[in-house]
Amino acid sequence: MVTGASSGIGEAFCRNLAKRGSNLILVARSADKLEHLAETLSCQHNVDLSCIPIDLAKVNSSQDLFDQVQDAGLSVDVLINNAGFGYWGNFEFASLQDYQNMVNLNVRSMVSLSYLFLPSMLEKKCGGIINVGSVVGLQPVPYGSVYVGTKAFVLQYSESLWGEYRRKGITVTALCPGTTKTNFFNVSIPDQQLRESRMLNMPKGHSPDFVAEVGLNQFLRGKSQAIPGKVNYLVAQGSQLLLLLARSLAIRITASLFDPKKD
Ligand SMILES: NC(=O)c1ccc[n+]([C@@H]2O[C@H](COP(=O)([O-])OP(=O)(O)OC[C@H]3O[C@@H](n4cnc5c(N)ncnc54)[C@H](OP(=O)(O)O)[C@@H]3O)[C@@H](O)[C@H]2O)c1
Repeated sequence: MVTGASSGIGEAFCRNLAKRGSNLILVARSADKLEHLAETLSCQHNVDLSCIPIDLAKVNSSQDLFDQVQDAGLSVDVLINNAGFGYWGNFEFASLQDYQNMVNLNVRSMVSLSYLFLPSMLEKKCGGIINVGSVVGLQPVPYGSVYVGTKAFVLQYSESLWGEYRRKGITVTALCPGTTKTNFFNVSIPDQQLRESRMLNMPKGHSPDFVAEVGLNQFLRGKSQAIPGKVNYLVAQGSQLLLLLARSLAIRITASLFDPKKD
């Protein structure tokens, strides 16, 4: 089951898994996009596809999704908690409702879905969960506080579960992509002018297909964490070292890099 299957990294996971012969449950809000993807993949590959349109930022939606999967007689061997969104800009400029939705989607639904689907994996003693975090979850990033906080949670949460379940045949992997060419920045930087000027300063970014491939391969190797791309990996290690040696300096550097007033 892939959440956030209607675009970007989630859609890439679906293409990759269908090619590998996996049956899939596609989850996101956009029913039309899910149906279109399911039709395309079922024409190309001999797999069963089910679409469940649902808003996972709504309280109780995870239980609702679990119930729909049960009622349809489906079972989930691998859960990919990928649906998520961010906000980049001054903390006080976004609405409280947006932040609550972000925490509900990026954190709450991830915990609920893992909790609900894990018992059947434990019964079979196989399967697992890929939780999509971000490289920004490895460090504090001013002007992205809530999003970065949710992604820091994803990393600590996933690796803790990895340590808890790895001897029980279950792998939990935190996939931490850097910049990836998806719809993500249209949502997370709503101001078009700011987004366009920011995109010029951003690293070019990986394709969602590359990110999904690395995530799946590391998951299948039983790894706790996957950071796609050598540069992302090295930057992540460098930032960890700087945080260890000079934490406030590291935060001041990211503040100057991400300050929207600079554009
Ligand atoms: N792109 C990057 O640079 C980047 C970097 C690091 C991490 N990530 C992470 O990668 C994950 C996927 O993002 P992406 O880059 O592929 O962005 P994207 O193209 O915007 O995809 C986001 C997906 O999440 C779904 N979604 C959003 N809100 C939802 C809700 N309330 N309920 C259910 N589904 C919802 C969207 O579908 P609907 O709109 O149809 O619901 C869409 O399928 C996110 O967790 C993001 O934080 C992205």
